Amino acid sequence: MLKRLILIVFTTVFFAWQLQISSVFALDIKEVYRTVPLNDKGETIVLSNKEAQVGKKLFVDTCAQCHFQGKTKTNPTVSLSKEVLEGAEPSRNSLLAIVDYIEHPVSYDGEQDLSLYHPNTDRTDLWPEMKNLNKEDLELISGYILTQINLDPKWGNLSLIDN
Ligand code: HEC
Repeated sequence: MLKRLILIVFTTVFFAWQLQISSVFALDIKEVYRTVPLNDKGETIVLSNKEAQVGKKLFVDTCAQCHFQGKTKTNPTVSLSKEVLEGAEPSRNSLLAIVDYIEHPVSYDGEQDLSLYHPNTDRTDLWPEMKNLNKEDLELISGYILTQINLDPKWGNLSLIDN
């Protein structure tokens, strides 16, 4: 009987501890920050915590070398901030617009094809690191960028660029 009680106490403590550990390490972003613009018609989409986490990993692996903290290394004025994305022609401040950019990047005024200059999934012969990204991955990367806009006031902020 005593043995059983000890076992029960042990199991309870163990699981409580496990639960605490997993909640400390799990990315728990409030829903309001995970709600991002879907398209230019004003519709929004809510990402799950898991999706936000996967998006972050994909962004860090494939984009952060040039877009650390939402800035743009070789062309700082075209950052990933809300204002700058919004100002593009047509606006890029939505999940589908950013997916479109990663598939067919164009200049800020929309006039020139940048597929030879910016990583994209259209020309994976030139950008082999983009070969393994499927449509869902692109959506998760875009979702991550838009979640960061909601979460981090410094994301892509031009006035905070340190040269
Ligand atoms: C080799 C460096 C490099 C990498 C890697 C890179 N980018 Fe870029 N990105 C740039 C540059 C430079 C620009 C500015 C292009 C221009 O002159 O319009 C840019 C522009 C953008 C823009 C347009 C921003 C705006 O405000 O209009 C988006 C969106 C973007 N990148 C997303 C991504 C994503 C997502 C990834 C990862 C899949 C990525 N980039 C990887 C260099 C890079």
